[in-house]
Amino acid sequence: MLTNFTFAILFASVFLFLFALIMKGLNTLILQMENVSLMRDGSYILQNINWTVQHGEHWAIIGLNGSGKTTLLKIISGYMLPSKGSVTVLGKRFGNYDLRELRKSIGWVSISLHESLYGNESAEEIVLSGKFASIGLYETPTKHDIYRANEILELFGCSSLQKRNYSTLSQGEKQKIILARALMGSPKILILDEPCTGLDLFARESFLSLIQIISNSANSPTILYVSHHIEEILPLFKKTLLLKDGTIHSAGITKEILTNQNLSNFFRRSVEFSWTNERPSVHINI
Ligand SMILES: Nc1ncnc2c1ncn2[C@@H]1O[C@H](COP(=O)(O)OP(=O)(O)OP(=O)(O)O)[C@@H](O)[C@H]1O
Ligand SMILES: [Mg+2]
Repeated sequence: MLTNFTFAILFASVFLFLFALIMKGLNTLILQMENVSLMRDGSYILQNINWTVQHGEHWAIIGLNGSGKTTLLKIISGYMLPSKGSVTVLGKRFGNYDLRELRKSIGWVSISLHESLYGNESAEEIVLSGKFASIGLYETPTKHDIYRANEILELFGCSSLQKRNYSTLSQGEKQKIILARALMGSPKILILDEPCTGLDLFARESFLSLIQIISNSANSPTILYVSHHIEEILPLFKKTLLLKDGTIHSAGITKEILTNQNLSNFFRRSVEFSWTNERPSVHINI
């Protein structure tokens, strides 16, 4: 016969076990989108998006121009609210949370966005501003902030750019500075929206190697990498999402998503797809 005391102990143990399971589930979930749609001017820009990103995953998001990639990223970082559906980022469900706070945990790298924002600021100032999630440096950084900013610049091979005006930097150098800025805030999610646009072959590989370094670091953020180019999917992106006309065409394990058949269906054209040294490439069959 169970005494009341034994029963209470058993009950408490089961409760604690279930509670720990639920908390573990919440901690491993970086992003959850359920039936998310976004309408503008009477038509859907995104429709019925169901997508989950777990802790430790890095995703490549591939889609043609106008497929809704940037809009998807804007929803994740709280700059746009969905017309329908629910979005939970880092355990916070939109609608019940201060989005400005959430954005401090998200590093956003979009060259087209940043290009118009900076002129005469030095590379170091721009990197430091990432600490305060501000465009421009309005707060006084600590000695430690300055040390850390220069540590990142050094890691990126950009120490010599420290005092240079942003407007005088090459495209490749600018891209590295914007990435360094995003890291200064120690983000939990790093969003890269077509970061290799305008880079030559070597500058692109140099930039991609930085992404690799970031992903190898102990406290690596979850990386969401948006591109038109399948060649940019590094081996670290074990998951891939193909976005087409505002809907998810397919999403899952990269090696299962990137196949001749699936890509031909995605592009509505016969394509030839191959892997070389764990890097994918695709050609249109003419
Ligand atoms: N605020 C808005 N009002 C109306 N239409 C919009 C708005 N924002 C985006 N769109 C439209 O939604 C579609 C998706 O835009 P989005 O910028 O998300 O595409 P994308 O996949 O990032 O494209 P690209 O590869 O060219 O950057 C486009 O047709 C765009 O014109
Ligand atoms: Mg875009």
